[in-house]
Amino acid sequence: MKMKAAVFASGTGSNFQALLDTDDLTCEISLLVCDQPGAAVIEKASKAGIPIFLFNPKDYDSKEAYEKEILRVLENRGVSWIFLAGYMRIVGSTLLHAYEGKIVNIHPSLLPSFPGKDAIGQAFQAGVETTGVTVHYIDEGIDTGPIIAQEVVEILPTDTQDSLTKRIQQVEHQLYPKVINELLS
Ligand code: GAR
Repeated sequence: MKMKAAVFASGTGSNFQALLDTDDLTCEISLLVCDQPGAAVIEKASKAGIPIFLFNPKDYDSKEAYEKEILRVLENRGVSWIFLAGYMRIVGSTLLHAYEGKIVNIHPSLLPSFPGKDAIGQAFQAGVETTGVTVHYIDEGIDTGPIIAQEVVEILPTDTQDSLTKRIQQVEHQLYPKVINELLS
């Protein structure tokens, strides 16, 4: 039986969809965890019949309180890996301890350059010639933690931020499933 994984996402969900669309993915995406009621990723999960745990952090007293609830859902479903895909929250110690070495993130820059929000925009504004994509284990920081894989994306003189974003996303959609399969093999 395949190992079960949860994807945590807050937004569009193109990386979530790319994982679902990977025929030879060696784990089963068995849950979407989402903190944004209006996020497009919810629609994608519904269409694919993937269970969703939707929560509003404002309904809880603390990060610890909502992460305990998430943890309960993950354990009930036998989830052994967590893949962050545009989850725009810092993961706290509750989940970090319970899933030590089993939480992976994808980020649209060559970390440690351009961590945080709008990494593609940051790189574009900075006028650098190369940026890329990083897959890494997470720790308590923002886009820190041991790097697993990186792929370079050139910024062309003709690029707009939109065209660069498209190329970076294409790389993300290939790299994330590939790295996940390597990690789980
Ligand atoms: C992706 O580019 C992902 O790398 C980024 O959010 C986007 C989500 O897109 N994550 C971060 O910036 C994390 N700091 P998606 O919802 O279409 O997958």
